[in-house]
Amino acid sequence: MNKAKRAAVIAGNWKMNKTPSEAKALIEEMKPLVAGADCSVVLCVPFVDLPAAISAAKGSNIKIGAQNCHFEPSGAYTGEISAAMLKELGVEYVIIGHSERRTYFGETDVTVNKRTRAVLDAGMTAIVCVGESLEQREQGITAELVSMQTKIALGGVSAEQLKRVIIAYEPIWAIGTGKTATAEQANEVNAAIRAAVAEVYGADAAEALTIQYGGSMNAKNAAELLDQPDVDGGLIGGASLKAEDFSVIVKAASR
Ligand code: 13P
Repeated sequence: MNKAKRAAVIAGNWKMNKTPSEAKALIEEMKPLVAGADCSVVLCVPFVDLPAAISAAKGSNIKIGAQNCHFEPSGAYTGEISAAMLKELGVEYVIIGHSERRTYFGETDVTVNKRTRAVLDAGMTAIVCVGESLEQREQGITAELVSMQTKIALGGVSAEQLKRVIIAYEPIWAIGTGKTATAEQANEVNAAIRAAVAEVYGADAAEALTIQYGGSMNAKNAAELLDQPDVDGGLIGGASLKAEDFSVIVKAASR
């Protein structure tokens, strides 16, 4: 299998932006701009925006995702949201292990693994984020680190479930900084992730896996990044808050 046969997925990560009414308005603006795209289009919105977003996206090619979920099915976890709660709303994708969650909210490779399994067990698709800091890149341990992050995140995930996993390579130094990995850097790390997945699940499963790049991807640099053989889509922060910019990225991913 080659890139042309893998699912291209462009996902917006709105982070902590937009109220429910603003979410509705932005999705209404995006719908005509991304209609007919030849790739999957996903918007991962804040929890409280989910009902409005799902309702606004209904009947369009936009799928709605969340940005996190707890790993326990229910219980005394004040402030948390379970996979079943998201599933019942109609959520199809959940971002897991974003570096902002790892940095600010104590997320570890182990909790990323638990959350990934909870999302998959509930029948949704997990967008699992991995990536290195600038110090780690300078130490030359990027490939090793992201391979390890990927393998730990996927512990206990069956080959069948892997079909509902997307890995997003997001170098921490490129997130929200305007500094993008070069197309070659992104491709090299994505290829390392694919090789790590092949070690566990075999070459065919790894070849079928969608691996995104994220980190200051925008309307200008998307085409070059998405053109790389191992870059199968993007996880977009800032540029996903602008309908026009986001639609340019979606078009760049369309095959
Ligand atoms: P930016 O596109 O704003 O750099 O954010 C990337 C990101 O973190 C997506 O999850």
